[in-house]
Amino acid sequence: MLKQMLTTKSFDNISSEHKSSQLKRILGPWQLALLGVGCTIGTGIFVLTGQEAAIHAGPAIIISFIIAGIGSMLAGLCYAEFASMVPIAGSAYSYTFATMGEFAAWFIGWNLLLEYLFAAATVAVGWARYFVKILDHFDINFLPASLSAAPFATVGDSFSIVTTGAILNFPAMCIAAIAATICFIGIKQSAWVNSMVVVLKVGVILAVIGFGAAYLSSANWHPFIPANTGTFGEFGWSGIIRASGVIFFAYIGFDAVSTAAQEARNPSRDLPFGLIVGLTICTVLYILMAATLTGLMPYKLLNDAAPVALAMESTPGLHWLSIWVIIGAIAGLTSVILVMILAQSRILLAMAQDGLLPAALGKVHERFRTPHVATVLTGSIAALMAGLFPLGLLSELVSIGTLIAFIMVCGGVLILRYRRPDIPRPFRVAWPWVTCGAGVIFCSVMAYGLTLGTWIRLYAWTIIGIAVYFWYGYRHSKLRKD
Ligand code: ALA
Repeated sequence: MLKQMLTTKSFDNISSEHKSSQLKRILGPWQLALLGVGCTIGTGIFVLTGQEAAIHAGPAIIISFIIAGIGSMLAGLCYAEFASMVPIAGSAYSYTFATMGEFAAWFIGWNLLLEYLFAAATVAVGWARYFVKILDHFDINFLPASLSAAPFATVGDSFSIVTTGAILNFPAMCIAAIAATICFIGIKQSAWVNSMVVVLKVGVILAVIGFGAAYLSSANWHPFIPANTGTFGEFGWSGIIRASGVIFFAYIGFDAVSTAAQEARNPSRDLPFGLIVGLTICTVLYILMAATLTGLMPYKLLNDAAPVALAMESTPGLHWLSIWVIIGAIAGLTSVILVMILAQSRILLAMAQDGLLPAALGKVHERFRTPHVATVLTGSIAALMAGLFPLGLLSELVSIGTLIAFIMVCGGVLILRYRRPDIPRPFRVAWPWVTCGAGVIFCSVMAYGLTLGTWIRLYAWTIIGIAVYFWYGYRHSKLRKD
């Protein structure tokens, strides 16, 4: 048993899978970078920044963004080395299979499920908030509040779940279903729609930063680090750490680029480029945006469903920008949902092809050449989650799942340097002990900052994952049949 769990996938297998992929190879380096930006800029910056500044970090949310940015960049470099070396669909899941064996790969695949699937749901909830905002803007009131909010909410240390009286978040469910339909039809359409939307949302963010600069008040940045209230996570340095764990969500997605490896024209050269360029653009935009929002109005007032639009509405000279922010956010969040569903279906495909999940999930549609069964499953679960659960609960779960995956990727790069120094690495991380070690430390600190409720849900998720592995994956694994 232990032997199978520790068996790694051979690099010969990986190369032949790479060559025999049925997916279309059409993505170039900039398309990959745009895919990264498209997937990364979303609910994190448009919604969570305001909330986290108001309740955890104050203006020091800027420091939280820097911490999360450094952690993501370190993990991004490790991803880039892996992606250039193991250029097949499945992202960290495939990398881990090649380095740490089947069980670790399952564990990471299970965590990535937490990342992409729940992220699609989380962003759909953020999307719904801006959708309601645009209806308000035009005085359209057909949607009752009980049909645009989650029926469940968390209280305290996000441990207890209570009912809110709402029925379900209908707009959030609809957008998840629409995005899944686009992904079902095909990668080319998805990448094209994504590129258009990226231009729009980056344009809106640049406009907020550029026009907002004239209205900043340095008084809003004092105190820059509000004093801790006596409770861990409420302002002070512990608040900065907690906020960094939550707004780390804003960086999630750049790694989705690596899941499109089998659709890249020249993966070993273009994937590292796409990853690093995409992440750098996002980091710079986030830090500037966080500084702008907290400079425009007192941080305590930023705890709003649509804080960027609120900041525009509260600044007399920037009213005109509010509608553009809403349009940019709606379009921008749509593209994130698209890439998340795209990425999740590719991970399910990879796991099914290895026999760890039912074979149906590994099927590719004859005409559209997309993993259609995996896409329908992903879209359906994401829509259900988006309809039922609140933003905070979903986003923290996504963050912790991703942080665990990142820690394993950073460790995996180091392990492979020693176990397989012979494999060609078109992209190599410099000073691997420092880069990978710091990546593990940064990601662990951010995970540590998350709430107790989130940690307990992670344990529950892991236990379910281990049960599913032994009940299905272990018995059906291709490794067992070979
Ligand atoms: N980074 C993505 C977002 O902020 C998931 O929406």
